[in-house]
Amino acid sequence: MAHLLALDQGTSSSRAIVFNAQGQPVTVAQREFTQHFPRPGWVEHDATEIWHTQLAVAREALKQAGLSAHQVHAIGITNQRETTVLWERATGRPLGHAIVWQDRRGEALCQRLREAGHAELIRQRTGLVVDAYFSATKLAWMLEHIPGARQRAQSGELAFGTIDSWLLWQLTGGTTAAGAVHATDVSNASRTMLFNIERQCWDDELLALFDIPRSLLPEVQASAHRFGQTSADVLGAPITIGALAGDQQSALFGQACFTPGLVKNTYGTGCFMLMHTGAQRCPSQNGLITTLAATPLAPALGTPAFAQEGSVFIGGAVVQWLRDGLQAIEGSHQVEQLALNVPDAGGVFFVPSFTGMGAPYWKPHATGAILGLTRGTTVAHIARAALESIAFQSAALLQAMGQDLAAAGGQPVSELRVDGGACRNDLLMQFQADLLGIPVVRPAVTETTALGAAYLAGIATGLYAGTDELSALWRAERRFLPTLPREEAAQKMAAWHAAVTRVVA
Ligand code: G3P
Repeated sequence: MAHLLALDQGTSSSRAIVFNAQGQPVTVAQREFTQHFPRPGWVEHDATEIWHTQLAVAREALKQAGLSAHQVHAIGITNQRETTVLWERATGRPLGHAIVWQDRRGEALCQRLREAGHAELIRQRTGLVVDAYFSATKLAWMLEHIPGARQRAQSGELAFGTIDSWLLWQLTGGTTAAGAVHATDVSNASRTMLFNIERQCWDDELLALFDIPRSLLPEVQASAHRFGQTSADVLGAPITIGALAGDQQSALFGQACFTPGLVKNTYGTGCFMLMHTGAQRCPSQNGLITTLAATPLAPALGTPAFAQEGSVFIGGAVVQWLRDGLQAIEGSHQVEQLALNVPDAGGVFFVPSFTGMGAPYWKPHATGAILGLTRGTTVAHIARAALESIAFQSAALLQAMGQDLAAAGGQPVSELRVDGGACRNDLLMQFQADLLGIPVVRPAVTETTALGAAYLAGIATGLYAGTDELSALWRAERRFLPTLPREEAAQKMAAWHAAVTRVVA
C-alpha cells in the first residue's frame, strides 16, 4: 500500500506523520522547539532549529513505520503561516531569527500605513486587514534592521520565505544550495500581504509600498504541485515533494471542506476558523479576512478558490500559559481535570489577548486580563475560564461569519468541523456546541492539518484522482449537540463581549 509523509511544522512543535492511502495515520513523531521572547511583544524562532527538529521527526516517523524513503509515495509540507525567514542563497544560512506570526514589532509601520490611507488598497489586493500578523512588515523590519540586508537583498544574494519555502529549500538543496528550490504556494503567499489574491501574483504596487525587492521572493505555485525532490542525503533517497500549504488551509482541505459554506475550526496554538467560499470572495463587514484556499490544481494556478477566515491569536496557547506562566498545571493534559473541579467559571472571564487581539476585534495593543475575581475564585475557575475563552473567541468568529452570510443572502452555517490538539477536550467541545447552537463535529482523523498536506501531495503525484475521492474518506467520530437554551447562550456571549470591551476599549 502507498504511504504519504506529511511534515507539519507548527508554532509550538515540528511533527511528521506517515499516512496510508486511506488517510489513516500510521506513525506520528513530534518535537517541541525553543520559543524566543527577546522583548515584550516580540516572538522569534531559530529557523535552523526548526529545520533540524523537522528533519529529525521525519526520520523518526519513517523509522517507526518501518519504511525506507523508496517506499514513500510523496511528501506534503504544511506550516505555521506568516512566520518570516530571510536567508543567504549561497549557504542556506538564515540572517538572524525568524520573526513569528505572533510578533507585534511591525505595528508601528502598520499604523503609518493606516494613517496614510492604504488600508483599502491592501484589503482589495490581499483580502487582509493591515496588521503586524502578516509577513510584509516583518520582512520590511528585517531589511531595515539587519546590517547590510537591504543592499544584499538588492544584489540578489538573499531569499525570503515563509516556513514552507524554508523547509523546501533545505530539503532540496540546503547548505550546498545546489538544486535548492525557492517556491511557495498560493495559500502561504496569500498571508504575506504582498500577494494579489485575484490575479494570483506578487503585487508590484504593494512591493513598492513595503520597499521589498522582487528578487527576494519565491515562485508561487498551486498547493498541489511537484515542487522538487528531496536531496538523496536527507532521507536516504529522493522523494517527491508534492504539496505546500499553510496549516489552516491544509486543515480545511483535510476536513474535506471543498464546497462553499463548509466551515472548520482548528484548535492549535491559536484558533483558526475558515469557511470555503468557492470562486467568489465574501468580503467581511464584521472583522474577518479573505484568504486563498489550498488548491488541488497543478501545474497551472487556475481559478482562485477563496476562504473567509477568522484568526484568534491565543487558543491552546492559553493552556501553555497556565502551565508555564502561572504554573497551575504540570502538563497541558491536566487542564480538563482541573476545570472539571468546578461546575462553571464562577463569573470569571479570561481574555487571553497576550499578543494583541485578532479577529473579529483587531486590537493590536490589547494585553490579556482575568476579570470577575472574588475571594471564592480558585485556580480551577481560572482554568475553566481559560478553556471557555477558547470557545468564546471561536463563537465570536462564527457570529461574524453568520452576519456576513446573512448580509449576502446566504444559508447559515449548519455544523462546525473541528480539529487540532484541543478538539480532543470533550468539555471544551460541548461548551463550544452550547455557545454556537449547531453541532460540533469531530472527525475520526483529527490530524487534519497534516492529512490535508498528504492528500494534496497524493493528488499532485496521481495517487488520488480528485477531491470526490477524498470526501468519501472523511468520517465523523463524534457529534457534540447543543444542550444549552439559546437565551442562556446569548447571555453568555453578551457577557463575553462585555469583558472584551473592558479589556480592549
Ligand atoms: O496563522 C498562524 C497559524 O498558521 C499558526 O498555526 O497551528 O501553529 O497555531 P498553529
